[in-house]
Amino acid sequence: MAAPMTTATRLQVAPELIASAARRVMGRCEELARVTSTPGSITRVYLSPEHARVNRLAAEWMRELGMTTRQDAAGNQVGRLAPRGVPDAPALLMGSHLDTVPDAGRFDGIVGVLMALEVVRLLRRVDAEGSASSPFPFALEVIAFSDEEGTRFGKALLGSSAVAGQWDDTWWELTDADGSTLREAFREFGLDPGRVGEAARRPDELVGYLEAHIEQGPELHRSGQALAAVSSIASARRFQLVVEGEARHAGGTPYDMRRDALLGASEAALAVERICRGEHHIVGTVGQLEAFPGAVNVVPGEAHFSLDLRGEFDDSRDHAWEELSLELDAIMGRRGLRWNAREVHSAPAVFCAPLLQDVVRAGIGGEAPTLFSRAGHDAMSIGAITDVGMLFLRNPDGISHHPDEAVAGADVAAGIRALAEAVLHLGAEPR
Ligand code: GLV
Ligand code: MN
Ligand code: MN
Repeated sequence: MAAPMTTATRLQVAPELIASAARRVMGRCEELARVTSTPGSITRVYLSPEHARVNRLAAEWMRELGMTTRQDAAGNQVGRLAPRGVPDAPALLMGSHLDTVPDAGRFDGIVGVLMALEVVRLLRRVDAEGSASSPFPFALEVIAFSDEEGTRFGKALLGSSAVAGQWDDTWWELTDADGSTLREAFREFGLDPGRVGEAARRPDELVGYLEAHIEQGPELHRSGQALAAVSSIASARRFQLVVEGEARHAGGTPYDMRRDALLGASEAALAVERICRGEHHIVGTVGQLEAFPGAVNVVPGEAHFSLDLRGEFDDSRDHAWEELSLELDAIMGRRGLRWNAREVHSAPAVFCAPLLQDVVRAGIGGEAPTLFSRAGHDAMSIGAITDVGMLFLRNPDGISHHPDEAVAGADVAAGIRALAEAVLHLGAEPR
C-alpha cells in the first residue's frame, strides 16, 4: 500500500502555481505542434530535423529547471536532477514520447513529457544559491522518448526499446518510405549505430517509471472522471495476411466460377469484428486492405490485409486469433481460396506494478478509477527493466491519432497535482 496521506504526501503549493503549470503545458503543446514536417498538420518522425528541434527545446526546458541534460545514443532526450551530494542515486524516470503519427493531434505522448517537467518544477528543492536538487533519496529524471509510434520505420517503441536494452540488430535494415535504412538515418542524425547499446539503463539505476498520457479512448469521458490509474497495457499481435484466388474477366466470369480474393478478405474483416466483439476486452482492426491486380475490370486474384489484435490479457487475445484462424479456414474453403498469415509483431500485456498503481491512485485521491490501456505506450518496453505506473487523463470524445485530439487545461492541472502527489507518496515509502 502507498503511504497514507500526510503533510509529507500532500503537495503544499498554491493552486495558482498548478494552474500556471497547466497553462505552460498547454502553451508548450502548441509550440511543439508547430515543429512539423507537414505544414498545416502535425507529423514529426524519428531521426528527422523536427526530432532534433523538439529535443533541443525539451533540453532547454530541462536546463531551466536546473537539470543536467543529454541526448542518449538512440536520440532520447533526458534531464536529471540528483539529490544533493548523491550524484549517482538511482532515478525515478518520468516521461513519454515526442514523436507523432502522420496528421497527429497535439497531446499524444507530448503532454506526458511536459507534465513530468512541471512535476519536477513543483517538487525540486532550490537552495539559497539557486541550485536545484531532488528532495528525495532518488534522482528525478524526465525522458522524452524519440520513437514510440513507429511512423517512419514501421517498428514501434524504438526509443524505449533502446533504453530497455532490447535493441534488435535486425532493425538496422528497416527502411523508410524513401528507402533510407535505420542505420543511415542514425548516421544522418549524428548518432553512431555502433553505440546504440549505450542508451540501455540497468535496473539498479532506476526506482521506477511513471508516465502520464491521454486515455485515447472514451472511458473517462463517459464516466465523467478526469483521471485514472492504469492497471495494465494491452497485449498486441499484428499480422499481414494474404488471400489467394484467381484473377479473371469481370464481365465474362459467372459467379459460380469466381474465386474472388477481395471478397474472401472482406468476409474475413467482418469475422474479425464478430469474433472480437464476442470476446472480453479484445479489439481487432483491419487497417490496410489491397486487391491485386487492382483493375476495375478484373476479379481480384489476390488480396493483402493487415490485422492488429489487442487484448487486456494474452490468453484471450490468443484465443481470439485461434477462433479467427478456424473461421478463415471455413470462409476461404467455401470460396475456393487459400490464405496465409505472417506475424509481424507480438507484445505481451504489461502490468503496472501494484505499488505504482497505489501511488497513482493515492495521488488522484478519492475513489480513483483504474483502467487498462488499449493503446501501446513507452511503459511497455520500460517494464522490462523497472516497475512502471501510468496516469490517464480524460480525452474528450476519446479521439486520438487525429488532429481533433484534445485534453482540458483543468484536467492537465489535476493530472500535474496527482502525478506530483504520486511521487511524494513514492518518496515516503520505506526502502
Ligand atoms: C500507439 O499509439 C499504438 O497504440 O499503436
Ligand atoms: Mn500514439
Ligand atoms: Mn502515445
